[in-house]
Amino acid sequence: MCGIVAYLGDKEAEPLLLEGLRRLEYRGYDSSGIAVLNGGGLELVKKVGRIQQLERALASHPLHGSLGISHTRWATHGKATDINAHPHTDASGKLAIVHNGVIENYGVLKKKLAEKGYSFRTETDTEVLAVLIGFHFDTLDTETENRLEMAVMEALREITGTYGLVAIHQDQPGIMVGARRGSPLVLGIGPHEHFLASDVSAVAAHTQTVAHLRDFDVVTIDRNGYRLKSLTHNKAGLEISRIDYQAADTELGDFPHFMLKEIFEQTISIQNAVRGRLNIEESTAQLGGLNLTPQEIREIDRIVITGCGTAMHSGMVGEYIIESLAHVPVEVEWASEFRLRNSPLDRRTLVIAVSQSGETEDTLGALREARRKGHRVLGICNNVASTLARETDGGVYMYAGPEVSVAATKSFTSQAVIFLLLALLLGRMRFLSGTQGKEIIQAIEALPDQITQILKQSAHIRSIAEKYRKADSMLFFGRQMQYGIALEGALKMKEITYIHAEGHPTAELKHGIIALVDEDTPSVFLCPRDGAYDKNSNNMQQVRARKGPVIAVATEGDEEIHQHADDIICIPAAPEYVTPILSVIPLQLFAYHMAVILGRDVDKPRNLAKSVTVP
Ligand code: G6P
Repeated sequence: MCGIVAYLGDKEAEPLLLEGLRRLEYRGYDSSGIAVLNGGGLELVKKVGRIQQLERALASHPLHGSLGISHTRWATHGKATDINAHPHTDASGKLAIVHNGVIENYGVLKKKLAEKGYSFRTETDTEVLAVLIGFHFDTLDTETENRLEMAVMEALREITGTYGLVAIHQDQPGIMVGARRGSPLVLGIGPHEHFLASDVSAVAAHTQTVAHLRDFDVVTIDRNGYRLKSLTHNKAGLEISRIDYQAADTELGDFPHFMLKEIFEQTISIQNAVRGRLNIEESTAQLGGLNLTPQEIREIDRIVITGCGTAMHSGMVGEYIIESLAHVPVEVEWASEFRLRNSPLDRRTLVIAVSQSGETEDTLGALREARRKGHRVLGICNNVASTLARETDGGVYMYAGPEVSVAATKSFTSQAVIFLLLALLLGRMRFLSGTQGKEIIQAIEALPDQITQILKQSAHIRSIAEKYRKADSMLFFGRQMQYGIALEGALKMKEITYIHAEGHPTAELKHGIIALVDEDTPSVFLCPRDGAYDKNSNNMQQVRARKGPVIAVATEGDEEIHQHADDIICIPAAPEYVTPILSVIPLQLFAYHMAVILGRDVDKPRNLAKSVTVP
């Protein structure tokens, strides 16, 4: 986790670094810090809390200099405190590093360095790396031309773990050294200036020319340009690309929070996921990025979908959609579980890794494990230049635009609609008729207007949230395609409101969960007019018989639902396979309004981070 931004150029570093950190705050936000080099040596300010705390500290102690490194942290080793915040320095206090990742053997290294007489001020793994680089730096002859670069490379040869890092040293004042293994690091190349950052959003306002470092790359930047080396002696140069990234996409505009902005963007993000991918003439989908021949697509006889958090929930919806429309057996597995177990897959099994960021450590671990075993892995992801996008054999981009709020919303509906496209493609290559294909296309094309209808109920949903604002606990229930939505609704509620929330398959209510029902515990039922409607009605009555309040997400025009629920949110009538894309939106709004009413930090909930790059 954590975000890094570094700058070397002819401008003042501090404002550029602060602006970059604000864009990376989604990667972690429990403390932040900046170090700059100027004629007076290394200067450093770091603060626990949000970036505003750092800004306040810098207002009374500005840092001047045109070479600097900065970091926003999500604590792994060591509590969130001023001292544990990055940058970390070595024993001499002349070297500073920022680091994203985990040094797994830091305990052993710390012991070895302590035996040499070094002491440590923090509880972090990163300080051990700083001291180790400093140790190598001090061992090298002072005349050594590439002293910092050599010291970084020597130290990295001794460590196990992951890193995206940048180092600077007071005795080599015109240089910064960046390195990557496992955690992303992007080089931004501008006229007379260079950036290193955890992702392009931190540099996009200044340059559109970027290069993504590969694992084991080490880049040394000075005022004349950059030089690339590799710890594995890889001779390939960096691939330079132009990014198409509008900094305005990460601005709030008229919305009070990114989460609300992103919920409302779903009418557009859905269209972006579908654009150019429908073949109306043949009533099918066209997904060129899969890199599969029609014969290879026909031969797929099993699919394993893997991901974490919201991406995993979209996979659960995908499972039902693909099985019902294409009759291909699908399993969904948490990436953190899949990566560690010996799944008996055969060569006709397709693995699909789903991730908004494309940087989630467990999802990357799962995809690497599947590829190691020789399986074809496709990705569904949003971040075009992500590690997942580069390591999969093919895939489908979401084109949802940047998702800034930690709680995922538009990425979920984009992923679900991509599963629908995939199901249409697989189905039309098997037994779905052209007429059925056409119906699916019509259902997909109707989605933006239907989503607009749901968004109009935002004020009504807020009034329901007001009514239940005192609840300490909530239950979410759904069957079949709605089961993943129950899980997602509960996840949204707990992550941004801190209210205890559980999602369950509706019928499981009777097997223990009903013991939690009382008059203060609302139950949210997903009960569109589908084949399970009568069963759902029975379950709602069972809750009400025990004085439990019932909130129903039901189909427009359903009069009967008034007999079963205290509060009702309507979604437009639609075929069963698209209803999850509609029914999730009221739950996103419900959690959002509840969080605002409770005064929570909606876009940056406590303890969480947008992109979890540690195992
Ligand atoms: C974190 C975020 C979630 C997200 C999950 C997977 O836990 O807080 O919102 O769903 O990671 O992220 P990914 O980028 O892989 O979709």
